[in-house]
Amino acid sequence: MLDWTELEAQCLSCQRCALADARHHVVFGVGVRDAEVMLIGEGPGENEDLQGQPFVGRGGQLLDEMLELIDLSREKNVYIANIVKCRPPHNRDPLNTEQDACIDYLRNQVALIRPRIIVCLGRIAAMRLIKPDFKITREHGLWFEKSGVSMMAMFHPAAILRDPSRRPDTFMDLKSLQAKIREVCTHTYQVMRNQELSWGGYIFGPAKPTHINTYTHKKSGTEYSAPLLHSFLEIQNRQYTAIPDF
Ligand code: URA
Repeated sequence: MLDWTELEAQCLSCQRCALADARHHVVFGVGVRDAEVMLIGEGPGENEDLQGQPFVGRGGQLLDEMLELIDLSREKNVYIANIVKCRPPHNRDPLNTEQDACIDYLRNQVALIRPRIIVCLGRIAAMRLIKPDFKITREHGLWFEKSGVSMMAMFHPAAILRDPSRRPDTFMDLKSLQAKIREVCTHTYQVMRNQELSWGGYIFGPAKPTHINTYTHKKSGTEYSAPLLHSFLEIQNRQYTAIPDF
């Protein structure tokens, strides 16, 4: 297993398959390297190839909006990567041979990150990471446990853009992901708890966080613990559910 520096260097100069010939950039991955949640797509498209970052086109914008609904972001608390790191021509599905040539990079990324949750974005990632006969229309949103990692697939953002009738299902899948994060993750929502703290501070006056799961109301000195913070969060989330048009 390589460390991040070696892995990235090796990946950026990779010649293991023919996709290397036409690429502008290797799209290694982006996000927080101690994330508990990893999102895995199939492979870079045109914009990603030009910019060297995963999910930066229209689909990427939609993905960011979807993640924001449940307080996730590539800057804050998730890591995003692909099955293959170079763009397949004309955005065709990556061939099995290309996936096989590339998959060790992803394995190494998963080994370094040790996520609690892996979300496959689309059929190709789900077939590779969850099971070869995965049926995205029937099995999106279902949880699979593999080696202690909770895995699920959602529709690929590009598929949602093509067919907006997939949005309600995707919204339910995001809610299920949010619930799973609360169940199995320890720090994914910590950053958000700081937001909750300032949100609580907004309602109750200036707040001083003591430690990450508590909040001290400055005037009364009352300490609120995580469940109350979570009820703040529920109110926040209800606000979000009023805007399902991601
Ligand atoms: N589609 C993917 O699967 N991955 C990307 O990075 C961009 C589009």
